Amino acid sequence: MKYLSKLSESHLAGKTCLLRADFNLKSDKDVFRILESLPTIKFLLKNKAKILILSHRGRPPLLGSKKWNMEGKEFSLEPIAKILSDKLGEKVFFMRSFDFGGINMHLKISDPGKVFLLENLRFLKGEEENDKKLAKKLAGLGDIYINDAFAVSHRANASVEAITRYLPSYAGLLMEKEIKNLSSLFHPKRPLVVILGGAKITDKIGIIKNLWKQTKCFLVGSSVLNNSNQKEVKKYIKNKKVILPLDSIRVKDNYLDIGPKTIAEYKKILKKAKTIIWNGPVGMNENKRYAGGSNAIAKVVAGSRAFTVVGGGETTNLILNLGLTKKIKFLSTGGGAMLEFLAGKKLPGIRALK
Ligand code: 3PG
Repeated sequence: MKYLSKLSESHLAGKTCLLRADFNLKSDKDVFRILESLPTIKFLLKNKAKILILSHRGRPPLLGSKKWNMEGKEFSLEPIAKILSDKLGEKVFFMRSFDFGGINMHLKISDPGKVFLLENLRFLKGEEENDKKLAKKLAGLGDIYINDAFAVSHRANASVEAITRYLPSYAGLLMEKEIKNLSSLFHPKRPLVVILGGAKITDKIGIIKNLWKQTKCFLVGSSVLNNSNQKEVKKYIKNKKVILPLDSIRVKDNYLDIGPKTIAEYKKILKKAKTIIWNGPVGMNENKRYAGGSNAIAKVVAGSRAFTVVGGGETTNLILNLGLTKKIKFLSTGGGAMLEFLAGKKLPGIRALK
């Protein structure tokens, strides 16, 4: 893999760098991914490059469709350009139109050190289909391609995968950080304890399988009790390595949070861990009444001296909202991508960089 961090001004000055970022923010307040993209942008600016940032946002209707006319705007990256400008302290120019010829001209005559953000690529037919023609058109806008969008690297999309066939391609600083930190979990300092929550434990079976040998135990959230009849889940929860909640907050047949006995038990286990991975809240924490378990676990993880890794949109938001970001050794920007990476899958966006 080629890393952007190995390049310097002699490689980058005056070059137009296409920087694939993941600005798929659920809300404009959810700025973690923007903040994490800043080091790469600043690195490119320091080395006098021009930057055209490419991203997607949500799963929008296609440009020109009836549906797009009705709800396309809510998927626009325009508000993100403003937030990014603020955080970066530099103007980020937003490019609304997909007139590739016009964009090319604009980039050619602009000075090094300028940052542009192109409108949501998923408005275009071909992006999600990994279309080669679209990838080639995008590639025609720049000299170098940099993928810093770890969070979307599990998608074979034109701006993630196919584009690497047409330009010299590098992993950005964030991508490098994600790959290095997450790869280290395959050979962790032991004991390794993995906390798995979220609505469906079935989404996490891949991680359980792949990290089975290295892991001392898996602590699972309350939702497992809602899925415990499923065949795959049954197989794992019978094993002693998988620790189920001892008590829970329950409304009728719905298990909504772990209870105080479970919190105490999980705390005891986590105290002995040298590595902790956490993905998915242990209760339905979007409702304050059922957030107690996740908040308590967040504090234990943050207070731990272990190598702590937290990922998944809801879990990282929880850490951010509790002001514990700096106390976590590595906070991943990946949701689905982190799950697939730790499950040992080869992610198309990463494979393409190799
Ligand atoms: C994410 O936020 O997990 C990525 O941007 C991928 O988004 P997607 O699930 O809509 O492809």
